[in-house]
Amino acid sequence: MGLAGATPAAASPVLWEKPGALGAPRVAGLHLQFGSDASREVVVSWHTIASVSRPRVLLGTPAGGLGRTVAAQTTTYRDAKSGTEVQVHHARVRGLRPDTDYVYAAVHEGAQAEFGTIRTAPRGRSAFTFTSFGDQGTPTLGKKNDSGIYVNDNLGSPAAGDTTAGVERIAPLFHLVNGDLCYANLSTDRVRTWSDWFENNSRSARHRPWMPAAGNHENELGNGPIGYGAYQTYFSLPDAGADTELHGLWYAFTAGSVRVISLNNDDVAFQDGGNSYVHGYSGGAQKRWLEAELAASRANPGIDWVVACMHQVVISTADKFNGADLGIREEWVPLFDRYGVDLVVCGHEHHYERSHPIRGQQSNDTRTPIPAATDTQTVDTTKGTVHMVIGGGGTSAPSNQLLFPTPQCRVITKVGPADPATGKRPPVYVLEDAPWSAVRDAEHSYGFAAFEVDPGRPGGTTSIHITFYTVTGPYGDLVPVDRFTLTRPRGNHWRQLASVQGYGASSRPCAKAPPLACEQGHGCAPYVVGRIHVAATVSQRTATSVQRMGVEYHSLAKPFPRVGDMFTLLA
Ligand SMILES: [Fe+2]
Ligand SMILES: [Fe+2]
Repeated sequence: MGLAGATPAAASPVLWEKPGALGAPRVAGLHLQFGSDASREVVVSWHTIASVSRPRVLLGTPAGGLGRTVAAQTTTYRDAKSGTEVQVHHARVRGLRPDTDYVYAAVHEGAQAEFGTIRTAPRGRSAFTFTSFGDQGTPTLGKKNDSGIYVNDNLGSPAAGDTTAGVERIAPLFHLVNGDLCYANLSTDRVRTWSDWFENNSRSARHRPWMPAAGNHENELGNGPIGYGAYQTYFSLPDAGADTELHGLWYAFTAGSVRVISLNNDDVAFQDGGNSYVHGYSGGAQKRWLEAELAASRANPGIDWVVACMHQVVISTADKFNGADLGIREEWVPLFDRYGVDLVVCGHEHHYERSHPIRGQQSNDTRTPIPAATDTQTVDTTKGTVHMVIGGGGTSAPSNQLLFPTPQCRVITKVGPADPATGKRPPVYVLEDAPWSAVRDAEHSYGFAAFEVDPGRPGGTTSIHITFYTVTGPYGDLVPVDRFTLTRPRGNHWRQLASVQGYGASSRPCAKAPPLACEQGHGCAPYVVGRIHVAATVSQRTATSVQRMGVEYHSLAKPFPRVGDMFTLLA
């Protein structure tokens, strides 16, 4: 349409972008988070600088309109550098239906509503896709120099916009952000950098939760008791029972048969990578929670996959970058081994690589992980944990050009005393060979990974088909760089008979029990907590009631145990 046919100004869509009649701030940075049960609960969030009244979300279905109102709670932090107070409005929407599409409007008094959509996770074993990257930054420059020209003080790069567009092409159920979101702790104007990050990502995060793990660049001097006050305020993450000042730094949620566990590695890493050195800040609370969470996940018959999302890495073959950290190898990896974590996604190193499944560690100074298999196309994660470094989310400082020619790893084994001039503790490195290294991408600086969960069939295996994409060309085409598949037995191949409790059985462990072997021949090494003599006939009725209790038993007697037979209880 030419100018002659332009609509009158009064009807111009431009007017819809102006502030409301009362001058209220706009609904900015709209984004979603899942609750701990992603099939039932979502939090809708946005932020303002000025106070607002009646922040709320109007919710409905695509066909039914916006019939339900959910009030938002406002939380704040005051940025210690600028003195600016940021107000974040979180509307917690409960009671949603699984695997269902909703529409919503976020609004406060005097503002134009911003619209988004929600898709809840399926319940049980279902197919879905999630994506992941870390170390994104913003597609903006962060600082004005003396000439009033913006310059880069926050690792900003146009690629930080490309990766978001790439994620939207996949349209995943959720996106995992593996730490170092926007590098606000480097920038002159921290609040603007956070705002830029949400401005760039709201086009995706208002439709699908971006579930983060805090990285070292979320640690901002003076913000909150340990530096994560901005992160903890912008996000409303599932409650993990942590103290108030630690809330949101670690959490877990379930989508389908996947349990995602998000960790904050600054607690255990040796590297001094934030604005302040916070190593050991939780006093072991995060580790205690992690072990309990892993045990509960493996005891849950509805969970097949345990995926950890974190920032600093166990593996890296980049030279002259951060390297791996012995603190994580000492604190987390033995737990990942004990509870059979399938997959770890992380960032911190600004490139893409992955490990073979690793299980156990050499007894050397760096606790070198031991590869349990070397097939790079199909990986049985009951043999070991696959680590993926996906740190090419968009910064201006990629590390793909820094990979050792043959795989080696610089491991930070400790830090030296703080430099009096900078206050920073220098890392102490030990170089190791990297027999665990499986695939490395030296060619592409930027990209993300997509994870297609295939639930498989009862009695068979379940799979995750993984593709690492780079985003390329003027129209942001996705080009697959690496494809592989994780497999493991579906959890329910264990005969889900039920509790014999209440039917006269004893749950005392039995020393005479034969070694446990999986009926399906998968070589599973599950988590035996006891062996049970059956003291009553197990009928179909018993089996049904046991299933209802959600406890899995491995039957050593077929088809149904009789009095005197023995069960092994798996938890
Ligand atoms: Fe980073
Ligand atoms: Fe980092």
